Amino acid sequence: MTVRVGVVTETALRERRVALVPDGVRMLLRAGCEVVVQRGAGARAYVPDDAYAAAGATLAADVAAVVSACDVLAKVQRPAVTEIAQLRPGLVVISLLGTAGDADAIEQLAAAGVTLLALERVPRITRAQSMDVLSSQSTVAGYKAVLLAANELPRFLPMLTTAAGSIAPAKAFILGAGVAGLQAIATARRLGAVVSAFDVRPAVREQVESLGATFVAAEAISADAEVSGGYAREQSAEQQRRTAEAIGRHLAQVDLAITTAQVPGRPAPRLITAEMVRSMRPGSVIVDLAAETGGNCEVTRPGETVDVGGVRVLGPLNVPSLVPAHASQMFSRNVVTLLRHVVQDGALVIDPTDEITGPMAVVGARLQAASGA
Ligand code: NAI
Repeated sequence: MTVRVGVVTETALRERRVALVPDGVRMLLRAGCEVVVQRGAGARAYVPDDAYAAAGATLAADVAAVVSACDVLAKVQRPAVTEIAQLRPGLVVISLLGTAGDADAIEQLAAAGVTLLALERVPRITRAQSMDVLSSQSTVAGYKAVLLAANELPRFLPMLTTAAGSIAPAKAFILGAGVAGLQAIATARRLGAVVSAFDVRPAVREQVESLGATFVAAEAISADAEVSGGYAREQSAEQQRRTAEAIGRHLAQVDLAITTAQVPGRPAPRLITAEMVRSMRPGSVIVDLAAETGGNCEVTRPGETVDVGGVRVLGPLNVPSLVPAHASQMFSRNVVTLLRHVVQDGALVIDPTDEITGPMAVVGARLQAASGA
């Protein structure tokens, strides 16, 4: 018995990633799987069909051909309503679920007899860390956010001493120092900025300082800000007020701010008000990585750049897709690790009681096991 893994071209707007890269194909072949890839699936991530073929994948002309030849479909984005018609009962789909709003798609997936393993729901346990696409893609987003800011800034980031005079380094402020924020700190530091950061979780302070950044507003954080799994809890009204004051004071002195704060299952916390934006110096830039979940900044408009008195606020969408080659490489490694977990003795085993796949099965959780031909 062999488990057959399918890969198709992503159809969502702005989606350039591919769920599996040739390196992942090789790893799956070594694990006893077969892989079938839709022609062109990797094109937007600069992975040519030839590279998949060289890695040992079979190429197929279209989605229908992939679906009919696979037991499990690896995707980046959940199949759209229009794509669900092409799936078949018994198929397992591994993908992001995305914002929960689309109840229609979930119902249709269930009606189509498809089992969906939602990648966002990988539990935050050490054993599953290498399967966690939220983490890997946050790394990409944190890095790219700094470059987006640098591109908008009318100033240098590093300090320069030249014959044409000396240039002071830019001041960068990172709000939310989880995976994306820590990567943003490291990237801004590499580019020579003077970096400060803030997070409600006190445990983060040491990590921020170890990256050479200063921690702002320690007085605004509290010991109960962290819940199990490393995620932040929503702040109380009093904590929010103290946080806002501290952030507002600091923002007026920085050239760029990158916001990454998220609270799972809730709209993104509002950290920067319109008034705070107006207090910043003209030419300053804010990159709001939480634009997709409502924004950390009051004036953010998802997918747009807003100018408030010369302060530009960027609300980029699907930032990992702006670095499609490496984002896909990391995504692919996460998916391969997950697949190795569910492929047992040549069969695909989705066990609802399993610590990792149990919480991930969004529809079709009743399915005990699906085995390949
Ligand atoms: P996230 O994307 O949910 O949130 C980003 C950051 O925003 C967090 O650091 C959070 O504390 C912060 N935040 C929330 N509300 C805020 C507010 N009002 N003001 C300022 N900051 C606020 O979290 P992320 O980055 O995915 O992970 C957070 C932590 O989870 C990591 O630092 C790590 O310790 C842990 N983790 C564990 C994994 C595992 O064990 N498998 C995998 C990934 C992360």
